[in-house]
Amino acid sequence: MTTPDNKDPGGNPGPNLMWGGRFAQGPAEAMRRINASIDFDRRLHAQDIAASRAHCKMLVARGIVAAHDGAAILDGLDTIAGEIEAGEFPFRVEYEDIHMNVEARLRELIGEAAGRLHTARSRNDQVVTDVRLWVRDAMDGLDGQLRDLQSALIEQAEAHAETVMPGFTHLQAAQPVTLGHHLLAYVEMLGRDRGRLADARARLNECPLGSAALAGTSFPIDRAATAKALGFDRPSANSMDSVSDRDFAMEFLSAGSIVAIHLSRLAEELVLWCAAGFGYVRLSDAFSTGSSIMPQKRNPDAAELVRGKAGRVIGALNTMLVMMKGLPMAFCKDMQEDKEPLFDAAETLSICLGASTGMIRDMTPDAEAMRAATAAGYLTATDLADWLVRVLGLAFRDAHHITGAIVRRAEALGRDLAELPLAEMQAIEARITQDVFEVLSVDASVRSRTSLGGTAPARVREAAAAARERFL
Ligand code: ARG
Repeated sequence: MTTPDNKDPGGNPGPNLMWGGRFAQGPAEAMRRINASIDFDRRLHAQDIAASRAHCKMLVARGIVAAHDGAAILDGLDTIAGEIEAGEFPFRVEYEDIHMNVEARLRELIGEAAGRLHTARSRNDQVVTDVRLWVRDAMDGLDGQLRDLQSALIEQAEAHAETVMPGFTHLQAAQPVTLGHHLLAYVEMLGRDRGRLADARARLNECPLGSAALAGTSFPIDRAATAKALGFDRPSANSMDSVSDRDFAMEFLSAGSIVAIHLSRLAEELVLWCAAGFGYVRLSDAFSTGSSIMPQKRNPDAAELVRGKAGRVIGALNTMLVMMKGLPMAFCKDMQEDKEPLFDAAETLSICLGASTGMIRDMTPDAEAMRAATAAGYLTATDLADWLVRVLGLAFRDAHHITGAIVRRAEALGRDLAELPLAEMQAIEARITQDVFEVLSVDASVRSRTSLGGTAPARVREAAAAARERFL
């Protein structure tokens, strides 16, 4: 309901400042609530002002806007940036989004010239330019944080190149490995994560500004100039694609989801490693919490939250994919829903990376506990089979069979392979000699795994050095 002067009884302004010419009435309150994005897209303020500055300078350079108007606009934008910085900018929901809030404030500050800034652009190319700039910054921030986590992992890997522990498959003890080798596995994952973000960044880095609403503009703009001013590699090629493309956001969230999954795997291992049955690692006080009722507890809450927050990031990807599915060309307002998942996912990833790096950097591995754990589970059974192949010339399948029988015997006697009397082994394969014991210790086992990418301490040291070169 509106009064004759087009103000509703709640005192809200009448027809919109930007498109009031076409409208006799202002929006309903419910319309305002569903339509306004300022509560979240205010986070684009720096990108929005940077893009407006580039656009304004280009308009002046091309003689589309007079120099004195351009100067007033740039001054006004500076003032606005200062107001936002100081927390004094009046964000107003009636101006819907960051773009119209800035323009409305500009009009208050400099008057009529403010209206010239929107020449040859639309909010459609404006918003996607802002979002691309924002995602680009987020990618760069994540890259640095991924690098920090790699650095912490490499440091621990170097310190624990010889620290033996059980390696698992199916979470069943499999073969001895070194902790350094295990940690460097994550360095590789994170390296590919950085590669995916870099690939996505290269595709993202085209400037949509100047695509206007969808069809381009009749003004003689210079899209190469605005692209360059904003650090883009080039202007985008197709104006319709430019205003409606959000696959850069999908790629960011896809790559981010894989990061989140990798972090959740590392987090899960930390949870296991500091559990009572394992005791491989002690997390620092700074990354543990106590219990309000059980005085003895040290809980790995940060690791559990990293594990849990993967759901938010994957949820953000899902939101983006479903939001875009089936949208006809070109811009549709649905796309305004791209921002909250992007912001939330980027912040979540940043929080998770910070916590993961802290946990890894501060953790204290318990080398004794890990070595003790290697005594169970017949971890060197493969070494025994390999010995039968190498020394006795057996086929691996036969060696596997014989070793299985020896393990069964050891199990019956309640002993590890290295403690099994030679006679017991000879009862199963008569040609086995005392020499076999040289391969049955966990240290000998890891030392022998010298194949490229293997767990031998010498290899782990090389791999850590190479990782420094490749990633840091
Ligand atoms: N706030 C909008 C968004 O976030 C800006 C673009 C709106 N364009 C339009 N024609 N309604 O996407």
